[in-house]
Amino acid sequence: MCCYLLECYLFRLYCQRCRRITSKIKLGYVLFFFGTIALLEFFGAFVHLFEITYDENFVYPYEGNVHEFVNALRRNEKPEVKPINQYTYSFILKQPQKCKDDADDTLRLVYIVKSAIENFDRRIAIRNSWGNEKRFFDVPARTIFVVGTHPDDEEVEAKLKLEAAIYKDIVQADFVDSYYNNTIKTMMSFKWLVKYCSNSKFYMFVDDDIYVSVKNVATFIRNPANYPFYLMESRKVYSVHKREIKQSDLMDYVNFNNINVTYSSKINEISIQNLTIHKSTNNSQKNNIYNGRVGQNDEKYKVENEHLLRLNISTSNRVKRQLELPDDRLFAGFVFTRSAPHRHKFSKWYVPLKEYPYHLWPPYVTAGAYILSKEALLDLYYTSFYTKHFRFDDIFLGLIAKKADIIPFHCEEFHFYKKAYTKYSYKYVITSHGYEDPNELLQVWNEQKALGNA
Ligand SMILES: *[C@@H]1O[C@H](CO)[C@@H](O)[C@H](O)[C@H]1NC(C)=O
Ligand SMILES: *[C@@H]1O[C@H](CO)[C@@H](O)[C@H](O)[C@H]1NC(C)=O
Ligand SMILES: *[C@@H]1O[C@H](CO)[C@@H](O)[C@H](O)[C@H]1NC(C)=O
Ligand SMILES: *[C@@H]1O[C@H](CO)[C@@H](O)[C@H](O)[C@H]1NC(C)=O
Ligand SMILES: *[C@@H]1O[C@H](CO)[C@@H](O)[C@H](O)[C@H]1NC(C)=O
Repeated sequence: MCCYLLECYLFRLYCQRCRRITSKIKLGYVLFFFGTIALLEFFGAFVHLFEITYDENFVYPYEGNVHEFVNALRRNEKPEVKPINQYTYSFILKQPQKCKDDADDTLRLVYIVKSAIENFDRRIAIRNSWGNEKRFFDVPARTIFVVGTHPDDEEVEAKLKLEAAIYKDIVQADFVDSYYNNTIKTMMSFKWLVKYCSNSKFYMFVDDDIYVSVKNVATFIRNPANYPFYLMESRKVYSVHKREIKQSDLMDYVNFNNINVTYSSKINEISIQNLTIHKSTNNSQKNNIYNGRVGQNDEKYKVENEHLLRLNISTSNRVKRQLELPDDRLFAGFVFTRSAPHRHKFSKWYVPLKEYPYHLWPPYVTAGAYILSKEALLDLYYTSFYTKHFRFDDIFLGLIAKKADIIPFHCEEFHFYKKAYTKYSYKYVITSHGYEDPNELLQVWNEQKALGNA
């Protein structure tokens, strides 16, 4: 009896343990299952399932043809459909005379610098380097800084007012200066340019942490299609960029219009089958605002290209595609053609489906530095009236460009990351990101200027 009870007791104990173990195992499975679901959800796997294919389905509000309305607005007439999106913040600092104070009113180039209000020393460095309006006597230029407000910081506001009084180059609009208000800053810049500074041929938008070669900008806008094709950087460099980049995101054409270059598709190998300079055709001359140099500099390009060939070009799977500028609406910079929205929830650039439902972005010029011709500026500005607000300014401009049928023009020399600096590596660089340190900017710019590259 005693033994029997003991046996029973032990048996019960055993059974309980078994049950506990099996329930633990079951619980483990359940936890694992839900954990996986949660993880997938976190990384946006389910969001991807519900994405809409960009290529066939893309429409973005306002959903209709806006060309007529844009033309009406450009003619100062009333459009048939009322605008759906306007940025109506007022200008606190206006500088209405900035672009008008010359006898000869026509400007070649206006630099519009998207600056953060507290970056006083960066603005000083820019005025003393690439922002110097007198850099080239034959390129009438202006430099203007655009900022928002810091409602809580009176000291900074007062300092800004003083700076504006001295230099008369600060435009301030009445919105809170913050990262997610970048689109507001950009569109208020457009608004200011259209209103007070529409007498320039080209406009360059630049952040205040960027190196700019004024000389290469001037060369580029004379003939964007032929600006020296240069080295593709290794993928390593790209991987540090703010948005994740796949090779397929990168624009895969070459900007030489009149040079016959064929790329082999073998990774890290480029084979130039025939480096012949073709005389420019009538086609390229049709792009009349860029034709300053067409046909004159074949010899020069040949030399430059032979120079390029000697360099170790590493590029993969790049396909040749001839590029023509379709009209005088230039929107140029570093272009991403097929990049996808971030759908994992921890990303700074996470975008919910409700905000943007497609699996790809339209082609866009990455923010930081880009150039617009006047026609492009006006069309983008008025098309923005019919484009639903989007908080990333580069994507927003991509959306507007798509509606306005402006194809962003790619140039490798707008470096959206910091291009590794050596004395001789910046010859063709138009812009490079990563110059937060004003002293470094001044140093690099002065050295490049002395070498004739800036
Ligand atoms: C953007 O600016 C507006 C207007 O000043 C302000 O109400 C809003 O809070 C700002 N947004 C962010 C994210 O700072
Ligand atoms: C480029 O060269 C290849 C062969 O070298 C030739 O087949 C092709 O027609 C050329 N293309 C142009 C645009 O001249
Ligand atoms: C390059 O072009 C020249 C003249 O057009 C031609 O004679 C030559 O065969 C070409 N070379 C190659 C490798 O295609
Ligand atoms: C090319 O331009 C020349 C002169 O500029 C003209 O005579 C010729 O007809 C043009 N050819 C074509 C195909 O447009
Ligand atoms: C070119 O680059 C590759 C790897 O990136 C390297 O192995 C090779 O030695 C380089 N060639 C020259 C001539 O610098």
